[in-house]
Amino acid sequence: MKYEPSRLEIFLTKFAFLLCGKSVYKAFADRLPHKGNERMLDFGCGMGTVAFYVAKKLPDGQLTCLDISVRWLNACRKTLRSYRNVILLLWNSRLLAKESFDAAYCHFVLHDIPESELESVIPELAGSLKPGGVLVFREPLQDTEKISVIKRLLEQNRLSHKDSRITDIPLMGNALESVYIKQ
Ligand SMILES: C[S@@+](CC[C@H](N)C(=O)[O-])C[C@H]1O[C@@H](n2cnc3c(N)ncnc32)[C@H](O)[C@@H]1O
Repeated sequence: MKYEPSRLEIFLTKFAFLLCGKSVYKAFADRLPHKGNERMLDFGCGMGTVAFYVAKKLPDGQLTCLDISVRWLNACRKTLRSYRNVILLLWNSRLLAKESFDAAYCHFVLHDIPESELESVIPELAGSLKPGGVLVFREPLQDTEKISVIKRLLEQNRLSHKDSRITDIPLMGNALESVYIKQ
C-alpha cells in the first residue's frame, strides 16, 4: 500500500524522535543482537529513528534501510548523513537478495500493512535472512488480529519463535516485541 507522509507528519515524527529517541528507539536498538559486523535490514525505516542507533553498533557491518516511501527515505538520508555503513533502498517486492542478512527488524511497520500484502511481504523478508538469522519486530499489542497473522506467516516461512516481551511506549501504549530465528 503506497503512502507518502505529509510535512506535518514528518515534523511531528522528528519532534517525537528528539523527545523520546533514547527511551523508545535506542532501547529497542540496544536489545537487537549484534557483534558489530552483521549485515542488518531495517524494514520500514521511516525517518531512521531506530537506524540512527543501530548504525553506530555496526562499525564493521552494514545497515540497509528500506521503505516504501520516497519522502521517508529522504528524511532517513538526512538523519543518517554522518554514517558511511548505511544503504537506502526503495521497497519493491522482488528486491531483496536471498539469504543476504544476518538480522532484520521491523519497528511499528507490519501492523500497518494489509493482510493480503503481508502474504507476500513476510516470505520475502524471511527469504532474505541467512539460516540462523534473526528477525525482531515490535508492533502495538492492541492490534491482536494483525499480530496473529504476522506470527502465523512467520512460522509458515521457517521462522521459529525464540522470545517475546511487552514494552510500554510513551503515547503509544503497550507493544509486543518478538524475536524469531530462521531455520
Ligand atoms: C509507523 S512508520 C515506522 C517507521 C520507523 N520504523 C519507526 O519506528 O520510526 C511505518 C513505516 O513503514 C513503511 N512501510 C509501510 N509499508 C511498507 C512496505 N510494504 N514496505 C516497506 N516499508 C513500508 C512506511 O512508509 C513508514 O515509513
